Amino acid sequence: MQRRTTLTQYLIEQQRKTQKLPADLRLLIEVVARACKVIGYNVSKGALGGVLGSAGSENVQGEVQKKLDVISNEILLEANEWGGNLAAMASEELEEIHPIPSEYPQGEYLLLFDPLDGSSNIDVNVSIGTIFSVLRSPDGVNTTTQSFLQAGTRQVAAGYAVYGPQTMLVLTTGDGVNGFTLDRELGSWVLTQPQMRVPEDTHEYAINASNARHWHPPVTRYVNELQAGADGARGEDFNMRWIASMVADVHRVLTRGGIFMYPADKRDPSKPGKLRLMYEANPMAFLTEQAGGAATDGKRRIMDIVPERLHERVAVFLGSKNEVERVTRYHDEA
Ligand code: AHG
Ligand code: MN
Ligand code: MN
Ligand code: MN
Repeated sequence: MQRRTTLTQYLIEQQRKTQKLPADLRLLIEVVARACKVIGYNVSKGALGGVLGSAGSENVQGEVQKKLDVISNEILLEANEWGGNLAAMASEELEEIHPIPSEYPQGEYLLLFDPLDGSSNIDVNVSIGTIFSVLRSPDGVNTTTQSFLQAGTRQVAAGYAVYGPQTMLVLTTGDGVNGFTLDRELGSWVLTQPQMRVPEDTHEYAINASNARHWHPPVTRYVNELQAGADGARGEDFNMRWIASMVADVHRVLTRGGIFMYPADKRDPSKPGKLRLMYEANPMAFLTEQAGGAATDGKRRIMDIVPERLHERVAVFLGSKNEVERVTRYHDEA
């Protein structure tokens, strides 16, 4: 029989190999992965499980919460509360941080998540996901919101689960990026995409083009050149894809290259982009860089940004290095 590496085995070997993966971090990742299995199970039930549709509430982002936003958030909180490895959690769906209840032992890590990414795709049966990021708490039992406000370079692990035709977990602990596919019969994550790499060049881009009239000039210049294709300045054709689940779009980029963009635009100067720095941009930037790609907000490396607020938003350009560098250069030249 062919020998298969499971997530558990991968993490234990990683702990031995790098010494950078302490046992408590390894266990924490296992708990998150287990929670993603439960979320994936609920997602797969769809209408049969009564999980589709709106929850009738609004989150701190001003978005209407879907039932699965709420369910996934609860699954992650509950799974991670009692493990003893965390000081606190923060979520796209919670206004304030979630300290570990005093009845449970405290750990030194902070877990941040977007419990259900791609909410607008839930009811139409298109790939959605869960994104997570792990930081160390500098403040132990005295963890506050301030403890979370660390640059993305301080992440010790990040990843996502994608609930699509296959359920996959893509993970980095700072030693490359590895993809695991859920074997539903065995209930285990199996290493199927070892050492994922983003090619430096690409002919594929992703952006919500319905916002084109609101874009700033560097984005318009860059996308116009792509769309001009072989007849324009670039002298070659580019293809476009937009799933509108960041997890699924980034998964494509990590699988076959591409550039993913969610720029800031002219509509609301107080809103620097749509995506959230700490639950979406940082973990995806960490994964992308670990796979040989790049991630900026048009000006700065995303992981260098020191957040001022938990729910801070940021513009995102990530993926194949040469394209991210080009659009970033266009911002410099503007
Ligand atoms: P979420 O469902 O967690 O709120 O995130 C949605 C995000 C992201 O997944 C996606 O890239 C983007 O919203 C899509 O935005 P548009 O609907 O503007 O295309
Ligand atoms: Mn949302
Ligand atoms: Mn999201
Ligand atoms: Mn979400």
